[in-house]
Amino acid sequence: MNLKNIKTINCNLFSYLFKNIGDLFILMKDLKILFIGDIFAQVGRNLVVKNLTSLIDIHNVDFVVANGENVTHGRSLSLWHYQTLQNAGINVFTMGNHTFFLKEAISLVQEKKNIIRPANYSKLAPGRGSFVFNLKNYQIRITNLLGQTFMPQHVENPFLLLDEIVQKDESDFHFVDFHAEVTAEKIALAWAFDGKITGLLGTHTHVPTSDARLLPKGTFFVSDLGMTGPYDSIIGAKPEPIIHARRTNLPFRLIPATGRGQFCAMVLTLDVKTKKVKTYQQIYQIFA
Ligand code: FE2
Repeated sequence: MNLKNIKTINCNLFSYLFKNIGDLFILMKDLKILFIGDIFAQVGRNLVVKNLTSLIDIHNVDFVVANGENVTHGRSLSLWHYQTLQNAGINVFTMGNHTFFLKEAISLVQEKKNIIRPANYSKLAPGRGSFVFNLKNYQIRITNLLGQTFMPQHVENPFLLLDEIVQKDESDFHFVDFHAEVTAEKIALAWAFDGKITGLLGTHTHVPTSDARLLPKGTFFVSDLGMTGPYDSIIGAKPEPIIHARRTNLPFRLIPATGRGQFCAMVLTLDVKTKKVKTYQQIYQIFA
C-alpha cells in the first residue's frame, strides 16, 4: 500500500467518523415539545393557523401536540378542521368528552393514527387511546384519559387503565393528557404515576393554572394548560346565553364567542439522556 492509498483511507475514515459524530450530536440534542391547550372553535383555529409557525421557530419546537376536542364549533373535530390544523403544524391531536359529538369523528379517529381519544372509553369504542410516535429515533407515547369526577360520561377508572398502559410501555417518553374537571383528581393521578410517566398535562377546564412543576421523581405536571380560543368568553362561549341560563335555570345553546383570542400552551424541553423534562415554559398570550 502506498502513501497515496493510506491518505485516501484516512480521509474516508475521517469523513465517516465526522458524519456519524454529527449524527450522534443530533441524536443527543434535547427535544422540544409544544403542548397546546383545548383549541376552541374558529377563534382557536385561527390563532393556531396564524401563530403556530412562528411559535415553532421561536422555541425550536420538534413536535406539537394539541387538544382538539373543541375544535369544531366547540364540540368534536371535523375532517376539514383536522386537515387545516395538521397543515398548520400540529403532529398529534388528543381528545376528550366531546370526541364523538360529530358523527364524522367516528371514522376520523379510526383512520387517523395521530388522533388519540380517551383510553378509558369502552374497549369497543373506535380509535386509539394511546400511541407511540417516532421523533428523531426516540419513541414518544401520547396517552389521553378522561376524568371520572363531574364528567358527563361514565368511563373506566383512569388509574387502573394507566397502570395497564405503563406496564406494557417501552417508549422513551410518555405524556398523558388528562382531560378532567377536578384539580384534585388530576393531581392525584400525577402523583400516582410520578417517575412512571414523563409528564401529565391537564386539559378540559379551559382555565390555565400556574402550578406547573416537576414532581419529586421527575414527572412534569400542570393541572390545566388552558384554552386556545376566545378570550372574551365564558370558557369559549358567548357570556350572555350562559348568564341568562344561570339566572333562569332554563337550558341554553352554546355559542362560540368571537373577538380577542388567547393562546395557551406549554413548551417542554426533554433531556434525551435522563429521559425526563428538563425545563418548561408556559405560554399565555392574548391576541387582539
Ligand atoms: Fe372537555
